[in-house]
Amino acid sequence: MKRKNKIITGMAAAVLALAAGSICAYADGGSGDIDGDGSITATDVVCAAAYVKGIRPLYGQALAAADVNGDGSVNAADVAMLAAHVKGIRSLNGNYSTPDPEPEPQGPVIEVRNGVTYVDGILIANKSYALPSNYGWGLTYSCNNDYGLTNETWNAFCEMQSAAWRDGYSLWVCSGYRSYDYQSSLYWGYVNRDGQWAADTYSARPGHSEHQTGLALDINYAESWFNNTAEAVWIANNCADYGFILRYPAGKEDKTGYKHESWHVRYVGKDLARKVTDSGLCLEEYLGIDSYYH
Ligand code: DAL
Ligand code: ZN
Repeated sequence: MKRKNKIITGMAAAVLALAAGSICAYADGGSGDIDGDGSITATDVVCAAAYVKGIRPLYGQALAAADVNGDGSVNAADVAMLAAHVKGIRSLNGNYSTPDPEPEPQGPVIEVRNGVTYVDGILIANKSYALPSNYGWGLTYSCNNDYGLTNETWNAFCEMQSAAWRDGYSLWVCSGYRSYDYQSSLYWGYVNRDGQWAADTYSARPGHSEHQTGLALDINYAESWFNNTAEAVWIANNCADYGFILRYPAGKEDKTGYKHESWHVRYVGKDLARKVTDSGLCLEEYLGIDSYYH
């Protein structure tokens, strides 16, 4: 009778403890004796740790769960395995494997040399990354063309121009290298005409124009009516074969910072041009950079 009372009292305590949301469902009076074997041992520590970390319920299968390595007893080995698991060092299944190395942080490599920004080795001029005001001086004297384009850019354009001609299209350079000062006069002219907010959607502020690099050019007509012309479609479909990318594609305005320009191409070399074009990403997305005035 006395023993029966003790069991009933214990059950009542457990029910009350559960009802109160206590973690001591197996303990008599809230002690750490979770498995109720009369003493606080490694079993109780493992049960409590597993519960606190959200891995196992405290009641029901707690004891089985505590026997992490399944050897029939709960001991220091289980504590060690559980702790290692909680710290993310090992799996709970008993495999003591070497932890995977921390993944290398992903992101573009951005270098600034003489005030010029290179992202993964690619020279960048956009709203976020400006060029020094004297960048490009001398290009018009040292290059092999009348447009101030770098020789590589010009040679690539000539190759593309010949291919377009063979396909029945005529391409010409409508704007090549533009100095800081020339870009400044263009930009402020647009600001006076349309206001700065509108000008910023289609014209780069001085120092931010890709034209200052000698690697970018406008083909035929730098006006929105040129979009969707047969020449514009040919450029979009073929320029990558000659090392160019469309720098301001349709639908990427929020990434490039500019309206669609079907006439503006940037020389990046054939390999990268193919990769960027096939990715369907604009250069900012491809490199993981932004383009806005900071
Ligand atoms: N139209 C391009 C964005 C420039 O001004 O460089
Ligand atoms: Zn342009």
